[in-house]
Amino acid sequence: MTSHYRSESEQFEKVPVRIFEDADGASRELATEIAALIRAKAACGERAVLGLATGSTPVRLYRLLRQMHAEGLSFANVVTFNLDEYHGIAPSHPESYRRFMGEQLFDHIDIPPENIHIPDGTLERSLVFAHCAQYEKAIEAAGGIDLQILGIGRTGHIGFNEPGSAAESRTRLVTLDSLTRRDAARDFLGESNVPRHALTMGVGTILAARRVVLLAWGGAKAGVVASAVEGPQTAALPASHLQSHANCAFYLDPTASSALTRFSYPWRVGRVDWTPQLRRKAVIHLAGSLQKPVLRLVDEDYGAHHLADLLTAQGPAYNLNIKIFNELQHTLTGWPGGKPNADDSNRPERAEPAQKRCLVLTPEPPDAFNAMGGVLHRLTSQGHEVRLAVLCSGNLGVPDPILKLHLDFAAEMGGASAAEAIAGLDELQRKGEFDLDTLRIRRLKSLVRRGETRAAALACGIDERRISNCELPFYEKGRYRQFQPGEEDVETLARLLADFAPHQIYATGGALDPSSVGAVCFSLLREALSRLTGSAWIDDCRIWLYPPAESAWPLHEVDMAVPLSPSEVGVKLDAIYRHASQRSQNPAPSAPGTEVWQTAQNTNRSTAHDYDALGLAEYEAIETFKRWIPA
Ligand code: GLP
Repeated sequence: MTSHYRSESEQFEKVPVRIFEDADGASRELATEIAALIRAKAACGERAVLGLATGSTPVRLYRLLRQMHAEGLSFANVVTFNLDEYHGIAPSHPESYRRFMGEQLFDHIDIPPENIHIPDGTLERSLVFAHCAQYEKAIEAAGGIDLQILGIGRTGHIGFNEPGSAAESRTRLVTLDSLTRRDAARDFLGESNVPRHALTMGVGTILAARRVVLLAWGGAKAGVVASAVEGPQTAALPASHLQSHANCAFYLDPTASSALTRFSYPWRVGRVDWTPQLRRKAVIHLAGSLQKPVLRLVDEDYGAHHLADLLTAQGPAYNLNIKIFNELQHTLTGWPGGKPNADDSNRPERAEPAQKRCLVLTPEPPDAFNAMGGVLHRLTSQGHEVRLAVLCSGNLGVPDPILKLHLDFAAEMGGASAAEAIAGLDELQRKGEFDLDTLRIRRLKSLVRRGETRAAALACGIDERRISNCELPFYEKGRYRQFQPGEEDVETLARLLADFAPHQIYATGGALDPSSVGAVCFSLLREALSRLTGSAWIDDCRIWLYPPAESAWPLHEVDMAVPLSPSEVGVKLDAIYRHASQRSQNPAPSAPGTEVWQTAQNTNRSTAHDYDALGLAEYEAIETFKRWIPA
């Protein structure tokens, strides 16, 4: 197998990887390359053949290409072939890739319509095979693809080539993996609405392109990116087939690259600068892989696992073990708001003031409950002044039948609001299958989520007067993937912070896909905080980051770990359960663990198990937090 690495630290990488400051930087680089290709081809009277991808990942790239067109770049000599399309949905469906491509790119540029090729998802099964063969022929007739753009799914799929796809596979009908369908559930307002099949170019079709660039952003992709780049080339992870391509590169943002060996286990690929965090990581990793508690590691364990260097600098094992054990011990606290009248020199949070103002920012209503429902309950029961700020209404996430349920009830109740409910029902009924929600429907859906949030907050002991519904304009005016945050959003957030002057802020979203609601909210928080530097309260405010849904912070990054008793886990699950519109509309009893509250419980239990396995106390469940000090 070929290795492409250019330095010692990249020795495990089998595909060239370029890491950019952020998704914008990577997209700009690729857009510039595409523009150069189009111009070079135009200059010699040829056509540029592009292979295009959908999903959140290339949205920035398409925005840049639209801009370049506005500034004079012509697409008249461009021919495009899209990777894939869902089977069985109309082109007008909001999630159809044909519609996506029109909205994101084609409707805004001068590409001749006959040059656009997207697999036809509307064909009946018996016609699909011939259509796919024809698609391959059309690519060939165009002279093959000059540059293929790819995203990657969490199963390792490229296009819709799910695990099992062979390197030789060609354009065909495929069955979608359950993880892929779960990832698409939000867009389709429920997993049961996600099509089961799709048409996709094959891995072989992709590999035949003259150049391939795969884009990936956000921590959720880090694991699969590392496997594709460093793991064996296998049909079990279709993106790994790209290792055999002579001109392929991965363009990543820092979070998507974080699981590559050079970042995750730097001691395996050369000398490292042993920062306290890296030291903690190495010891935790060693203990985990040997399945030993930290205090039972011996010098030989370190020596046999590339860590002799660490021992030389900070050993022997006995001393190092105790140091790390104590660090882990000091992350644990039952007092997330600080323990009054206690020595706080080894506690994550300071004791004073005993009663703190705690501002909990939740991008969409359930986020904070999923990750820190136990801590919400703790903070209130320990006497802190908790304010729950719901940044976005979450109205985009309410399925129509759920709204109808509420409106039927209100209409039947009669009284003053019945007229509004009837108007809402009428608009719902007139709404075409694939229409976007009207303003009224969005507003009514916001009310559904407000009610759920009130109920969930109450379960955690938070009175409804402690809830701020910020309804940030970027969300209210936007759609998934197309959010355009602006000045109004920053101002709303800055005002909220300044008015409350918190001692603690709980926030999330930093490492997510940059187009997600959570990531947009986090960048707004960063901006709002930077405008408030100098305010007296800021110097006395600690910011705690809670992990995104379905995950916990890796143990070496945890600064505060709050154990939950079995009954507190019950309170938390009850709170999550009260977000009724977010429950699966079609739960699969055969696959437990797919509902949000089950995932939250599993995540918190497995953190508790990890602490226990390292030799610390055995708890029922643990919620984790990282301290963040903005630059
Ligand atoms: C989708 C598409 C892929 C895309 C991937 C990742 O299902 N079929 O082409 O690369 O999944 O999507 P996203 O960019 O939204 O993370």
